[in-house]
Amino acid sequence: MPGVCVQQQADSGHGLFIVFEGGDGAGKSTQAALLATKLERLGHTVLRTREPGGTPVGEKLRALVLEHGNGDIDARSEALIFAAARAAHAAQVIRPALARGELVISDRYVDSSVAYQGGGRGLGERRIRDLNEWATDGLWPDLTLLLDVEPADGRHRRTVADAGEDRLESEPDDFHCDIRKVFLRLAAASPAQYLVLRAQAPVEELAQRILDRVQGLLP
Ligand code: TYD
Repeated sequence: MPGVCVQQQADSGHGLFIVFEGGDGAGKSTQAALLATKLERLGHTVLRTREPGGTPVGEKLRALVLEHGNGDIDARSEALIFAAARAAHAAQVIRPALARGELVISDRYVDSSVAYQGGGRGLGERRIRDLNEWATDGLWPDLTLLLDVEPADGRHRRTVADAGEDRLESEPDDFHCDIRKVFLRLAAASPAQYLVLRAQAPVEELAQRILDRVQGLLP
């Protein structure tokens, strides 16, 4: 039925909702920080946030779902924990900031659940998308910046940069291959809403391409 499930971007005329997505070790946090700094220098008010997390309840759910040592978490419970954290994040942090006219930059959002829980855990992309459509009350990004990383490269970058791997990161490369495929498919299906970048490109080159694209969306 045409028109029944139209995807709504963040309210136009208000702020801008930008999301960084990609596999573990893609360099999302570095690029999110660079973009925030550049936009602030241009005089914009920026809210930088991340998932899972961004609210007190979200940070608790983050620790619960990512840290080792909380016992088995089955795939459906995992999907619901990420969605619960996101519901709080969308209602308490992202929507109010957009209503104030701010630029919101989030490290991960719904696509991470579609890729990791829908694809990686095999729960089904459509089902996870629908769950999150409900959880966020239909709040979708204006632009998603997908940093595409090969799983082996991502693991290498994590090993160099990090002290340890969380529950999801420590899954095998096959799992991360499935996730990568989902991210690329989502981007290919809606090219106007995505910019896909090779994570291996030089940091400053990526930052400039990202800024150019974001500036094209600013009034
Ligand atoms: P992230 O914050 O990117 O990890 P780090 O703190 O190491 O930079 O993401 C945490 C992990 O959670 C990552 O492996 C991806 C996973 N994740 C999901 O599985 N589903 C989701 O919906 C989200 C937001 C993250």
